[in-house]
This record gives sequence, structure tokens and C-alpha cells, in this order.
Amino acid sequence: MENRKDCKANQKTYYITTPIYYPSGKLHIGHSYTTVAADVMARYKRLQGYDVMFLTGTDEHGQKIERIAKEEGVSPKEYVDKIVDGIKELWKLMKITNDKFIRTTDEEHVAAVQKIFKKLYDNGDIYKSEYEGWYCTPCESFWTETQLKDGKCPDCGRDVELTKEESYFFRLSKYQDRLIKYYEENPDFIQPVSRKNEMINNFIKPGLEDLCVSRTSFSWGVPVTFDEKHVVYVWIDALSNYITALGYLSDNDENFKRYWPADVHLVGKEIVRFHTIIWPCMLMALGLPLPKQVYGHGWLILEGGKMSKSKGNVVDPVVLVEKYGLDAIRYFLLREVPFGSDGVFSNEALIQRINSDLANDLGNLVSRTAAMIRKYFDGIIPEDRQKEDIDDDLVKTVEGTADSVEKLLDQLQFSTALQEIWKSISRTNKYIDETTPWILARDEKNKPRLAQVLYNLTESIRIISILIQPFMPETPQKIWEQFGISEDLRIWESAKTWGLYKSIKSVQEREPLFPRIDLEKELADLEKMNAGKNEKNINIPGILPQIGIDDFAKLDLRVAKVISCEKVEKSAKLLKLQLDIGIETRQVVSGIAKYYTPEELVGKKVIMIANLKPAKLMGIESQGMILAACHENELVLATVDGDIPAGSRIS
Ligand code: MSP
Repeated sequence: MENRKDCKANQKTYYITTPIYYPSGKLHIGHSYTTVAADVMARYKRLQGYDVMFLTGTDEHGQKIERIAKEEGVSPKEYVDKIVDGIKELWKLMKITNDKFIRTTDEEHVAAVQKIFKKLYDNGDIYKSEYEGWYCTPCESFWTETQLKDGKCPDCGRDVELTKEESYFFRLSKYQDRLIKYYEENPDFIQPVSRKNEMINNFIKPGLEDLCVSRTSFSWGVPVTFDEKHVVYVWIDALSNYITALGYLSDNDENFKRYWPADVHLVGKEIVRFHTIIWPCMLMALGLPLPKQVYGHGWLILEGGKMSKSKGNVVDPVVLVEKYGLDAIRYFLLREVPFGSDGVFSNEALIQRINSDLANDLGNLVSRTAAMIRKYFDGIIPEDRQKEDIDDDLVKTVEGTADSVEKLLDQLQFSTALQEIWKSISRTNKYIDETTPWILARDEKNKPRLAQVLYNLTESIRIISILIQPFMPETPQKIWEQFGISEDLRIWESAKTWGLYKSIKSVQEREPLFPRIDLEKELADLEKMNAGKNEKNINIPGILPQIGIDDFAKLDLRVAKVISCEKVEKSAKLLKLQLDIGIETRQVVSGIAKYYTPEELVGKKVIMIANLKPAKLMGIESQGMILAACHENELVLATVDGDIPAGSRIS
């Protein structure tokens, strides 16, 4: 036990984080991008022998979440709980190996944020004043008049709101010089470098202004302990997660001592500003070391591509993984676009990559090699083998790949690291053409040479299977089982030495690793699916637990005729309906404004739950609920067919 502890104490650590996600809706493939990239690094560093801490989680407070919950007619906590479960499921599906999942609603996090805020206040870094300026709720960002672009949020282009409220402020301006000095002394702090220039020119040079760090106009946030009408600004709350998750200012701060400062915060380019200006200044004010690096990756543009011009791409990661397999999706995400740049995500490009890189290059190499070993030697390569000079170039290329991959992964250059591995795959495929094993097999006296050729192919495959591990959680295992590669021959370091797999005794034939996809047919299927015509309906939710007839009888369902309907002011989602239910008129507020105009609803006979406790949505009383069928982004109201009076019971 002691030994194991000592061993951990001597181990090098690696702390990597993703941003914590807003649970403001279903995650798309673009969100998976940051997390898959972080997962590749975490897996890679573990393979290298590091003690890794990989953190992800959810950013659950703030005005945006409070508003969405209100529109949906539930409490913010009820709303986030449901979405967070879905996010956790998605990461499970994508085999994300995070060591911790933090929710900003976790008690420990809330308590630590309160202590951080108090500490900053006690040190004089936070003071009370009044905020007057603009706020972008989707980005949860404050903007000055001059920062706005054509009166809109300069980050997302959406409307901003004029805000005036008593607030606490953080003395960001006080840290400006120290921040610039840190940038200068740590040239790798912001990567890629272009993002550093953007921060300096757009934000630091014009002068840092003190930052508003509390809000009073809504309540869904961490309360300020010494002034309870204030909640902590959501970005202060969110950024703190990187240290509260490690137990900073808690009874157990062992992890904090062990892993902080972070080796890298991976973030999308639009939030580099928060991570390279606000976060380092907060840490300086707390007297803590700064993270070693913030890497701002580009965006996957989800529009574009041939298909999407007409119908839009399939971007739901659950559907994509079910259709094409996890390894193909993870490979594509990191191969297609250099990590710092923007790139288009299209289903067409995805299928093309699957066919060329995975089915053709890797898949064929593995299945051809296994088939030849079975055919010519019954799955066992003889020890009597004959080398030739032509083998040297293959050995050199493949043996040198691990070093190049390491150098590139250490710079988070996922796409070029994969290209390096694929160079080895191509070199090995070329070696098959150069050595023509099927011709060697025609003559018994060539058997030792044939054995060497097949041995070399297997050794190449072994090394490649080790190097693809961080990217592909499923394929390496399949290859190891197929080629009988034992555990000691799978370790990362063993990819640097050719010839370790001495005696190859049990090679099997298996299904192709990546079946080829008929591009045209697949694109047509996807288009149909997008049009909602697919019959398979992968995303239909499962059936809830059974209830008795008594449970059902508690619901008073009635036919309700829409007498009038209007939009709810300041809400994009809500409509206010007056409903005739025979015995009385009821007012119901419903989140269907995106799907129906008020005019088209008048006269419709819908189904309502008449005995639901009234609730307030955006301050308006709703005396019941009307029923609708929902599927992903579609919604249709449940209506009654035929002539039946309003108020009739539905049973
Ligand atoms: N909650 C904040 C982060 C707080 S970190 C202290 C947030 N959340 S988010 O859910 O909006 O975004 C999470 C991550 O997903 C960001 O890094 C963002 O850049 C990334 N992406 C969201 N859409 C994306 C693409 N289309 N392409 C690539 N990354 C994208 O921001």
C-alpha cells in the first residue's frame, strides 16, 4: 500500500480540462469536439505513464438557464437535472474517460465559490458599485457601448439588453500589467499564437475595465454570503470550477495540491477571452499559480457541405455514433480539421473519410494481412524467416512514428498526428504491393521470405494499433484479439521498438473493422431521415415504468376549444391561450410559439389537463396544460378529431 502511494507521489501529473457545458439544450457534434480532443490527450498521457486528472462538467447557473426553465414551466434545478443526465449519457456513449464530472450546482462547488468571492472581497479586489451597460444573455457577457457591433453582441451577433443594477466589481484593471508580463514570460500560455494577438489587441490594449461580478435582477446563481440579494456572476462561478473540482478551499484539498496548476484548459475560440483575461486575473488575486496553457480550438461549422444546402446535416452525436461507430466519429472529428482552425462538418466528408482512411487504408491492411496468414500458414507464422533490404524502409518508417506522434500530440496537433500514423499505414500497404506475397506463395522455397513479409505486416499492425489507442477506444482491442497480441506488446513504449512480437501463433479472420459505405445511398438515407421520414426512428425515447389504471384516473383530461390566443411579451417561446372547457374558461400559457402562430390556433380543439395545479410562467398564471407530441425539434398539438363539445372528458 505504502509502495503504491510512493509510486503515485513520484508519478508526473497531467491536469486537463474541457469547458463546463451549458445545459441549455441537446448537445450537438460541435460540443463533442472539445471533449473528444481532451479525452485523446488524457488517454495519451495515461498511456505514457502520467497520473492524469481529466475534468469536465456542466455550467448550470445564470440568467440564460433561469429563463429557459421558466419558459418550460419548471424550476431551474428540475430543468438542469434532466439535461445533465443526457450529457453524462452522451459522454458514456463516446467513451470519454473523465476522472471527475463537476456540476456548478454541487454543494461543494457552491460553498467554495462563496469562499472565493469572500476572499477576493476581503482582499479588496471586489468592491460594490452600480453596473450600467449592456448584457448578452446567451453569452452571459457584459459589453460597453463601444464594444457592441452594430448594436449587437460582438461575439454572437444577437440582441443585447440594457442593464442597470447594483453590483460588485472585480478590480480587473489592477492586474493588467501583470497579465501582459505573464503573456510575455510564458509564450506558450495562449495557443495558437494568433489568439494571443487577438486578446492583446482587442481587449488588453484598449485597457481592461473592472468587471461586474454579481447580479441582482435574477436569483439562479451562487448567493453572495455577505449580501444575499446578489448572486455571483456566472462566469466567475464557472471558471472557479477548475479549482473547486480539486477541493480548493475545502476540507480535502489533496487533489488541488497535486494537480494545480492545470497543464491545459481546452476551450473553443469564443471563450478564450474569459480564460486568458478574467481567469488569470482571478488567480493572481487569489495568490495562485496560473494554468500552463489555454488552447483555443476552432469551430466545427455545422452548416455547409453538399447535403446541408437542401436539408441540413445530421449533427446529433448519438445518431452519428449509432450509424457509423464511435471510433469513426472520433477519428473524423480530429482528423478532418487542424485543431486551431475552423472547419465544416458535413456528413459527406465524414463518409468519404470512413471509406478512404478507415475502410480502405486501415481496415484493408488488417483484413488482407490476417487473411494471408490464415491462407498461407494457417494462422501461425513460422520462425524460419528471411529478411531482405527492401524491409528496412518499412521498419524505419513505422518504428519512427511514435516519436513524431508524441511531438505532435504534445502540441495538440491531432490531425497531423493522425496523418503520421496514416503515413505508416500507407507505407505498409505499399510494402504489400512491393513484396507481392501472393506470388511468393506460389513456390514452396519462398516460404521463409513469405513468412518474413507477413511477420513485418503484423509488426506494423501491432505498432499502429498502439498508436491509434488515444483516438479510438474500440478498434485496437479488436486488432489485438485478431492477431493474438498480448498485453506486454500493447504498451505505449513498445510502439517504439520493431520486432518485439516474436512468435505469432494465432491470427484469426474477422469481420472488416470498418465496412465500406455506399456514399450516394447513405446521403439519400440521411436526407430522408432529416425530412423526418425515416422509419427506424433511432431517437424515440423508451417507455416509462408501468402505472395502474388508478394513476391514470387521477388525470382530468378535457377537450378544450381555443377561444383566443396571443404572444407573451418578451418571450420567444410562450403563447397565452384562453380555452373553453364547457363549464368555464381557462387561461393556459404554453411553450409552443415556435411551432404555431396565435391565429392558426383559434378554433382548434385541443386536449388539456384540467386538474393540474396552476403555475406562473413569466409572471402569468397558467391554469392547466395542453398536450402536444414532441420529437427532437418538432412539435404538434394533440387535437380531437370529430364533432364533440368542449369540456368532454377524455378517458
Ligand atoms: N459554459 C461555458 C463554458 C464555461 S467554462 C468555465 C460554455 N459552454 S458551451 O456549452 O456553450 O460550450 C462548451 C464548449 O463547446 C465550448 O468550448 C465551445 O467552443 C464548444 N463548442 C460549441 N459548439 C461548437 C462547435 N460548433 N464547434 C466546436 N466547438 C464548439 O461556453
